[in-house]
Amino acid sequence: MELTREEERLLAGEKGPRVQECMRILAALGDLYGARRLVPVWSVQLSGISFKTMGVPGTEFLEDMAREVKFAVPTTINPAGYDVGGPGLVQTSPEFKEKQDRIVRALTTLGAIPTFSCTPYTTEFAPPPGVHLAWAESSAVIYVNSVLGSYSNREGAPSALASAVIGKTPDYGLHRPEGRRPQVVVDVDTSKGPMLYTVLGAYLGKVLGQKIPYLRGIRPDLDGLKEIGSSMSAWGAVPMFHVEGVTPEAGRYDVRGLERLSVDAGVVGEFQRCLGCQETPQLVAIGCPHCTKGELIQIAQAVKRKGGKLKPGTELWVCSNRRVISETAAAVEVLRQAGAKVIQDTCMVVAPLGDKFSTVAINSAKAAFYMNRKSFSGQKVVFDSTQNLVENYL
Ligand code: F3S
Repeated sequence: MELTREEERLLAGEKGPRVQECMRILAALGDLYGARRLVPVWSVQLSGISFKTMGVPGTEFLEDMAREVKFAVPTTINPAGYDVGGPGLVQTSPEFKEKQDRIVRALTTLGAIPTFSCTPYTTEFAPPPGVHLAWAESSAVIYVNSVLGSYSNREGAPSALASAVIGKTPDYGLHRPEGRRPQVVVDVDTSKGPMLYTVLGAYLGKVLGQKIPYLRGIRPDLDGLKEIGSSMSAWGAVPMFHVEGVTPEAGRYDVRGLERLSVDAGVVGEFQRCLGCQETPQLVAIGCPHCTKGELIQIAQAVKRKGGKLKPGTELWVCSNRRVISETAAAVEVLRQAGAKVIQDTCMVVAPLGDKFSTVAINSAKAAFYMNRKSFSGQKVVFDSTQNLVENYL
């Protein structure tokens, strides 16, 4: 990879060993993937900032880093392990809070913006089309590539941190036009019945791995695109998808001759049955990824239609970001009056749910992917549509 004079000086250690280490990471990645240069990034998004995922070594690494460098570009951050800026709706131990607070202090000292959300694209930090990003949250990466037309690879923690410090990323993969081409045409047949977009995405992620699909036969709205993408990128490593007549880059490609796949409601419904069990949940948790305004209003309307009060014995969490919550005050009030918790800064996956909730009901196939893993979460999962969760459990 060719470096500018300034980049070579950073690599030589002119700005200290931490900046040098960050340049080394980017240069090594660029060489590995055949990038010819580094490109400036418009922003960085860091994931895995809950103490539940980061642990002690990650915390100490960030604290060391915060003593030496600052982020060079706007850097937003994923949900933390509890509602750090909220009214304390998520109960965790004082020890966990203290450890989480250390991570938050280190990140804000580095210059991170305290967004605590996996959907920064629903806030003032939404990137415009055509800009380069170094984002790590997989559901956000697939959304900005597919729906907004910005460019980001799926960064890991080291490369996203390095990009935040240097302000650049290697120009390969999704940053290049050839890296955004569809590789398989997926014909979605909806004639045999409806299917949940979150389950469709999960099924495709599992089948496709890393391949970029070109979907035909569906016309999802923005929330539907978010559902498809988030579960596709969790169950597979798909970084981008096109939907014919819907997503901005779909019309650029001639898809004749590509590999083909057909999917219908039968296949997707069969897959849905593997996502959860039949037990009675103590918690219904909505908002993975964090709810958009439309999703938050929809759940408030469903709760209102059901009578406006939750059944005793079941808790409802609606997780979203600060911006969306502040802009949906009426819906938030309906949910609070019903007894629900509208939760900012964290989510049902990265918060330690503890013994209080042995079974959790969710409407997200991405959340099901993580919560069904014993190493990640000790809960059992009930999976269904938002409407059915409200009807059956609230
Ligand atoms: Fe966001 Fe938590 Fe889901 S970080 S994508 S709500 S697992």
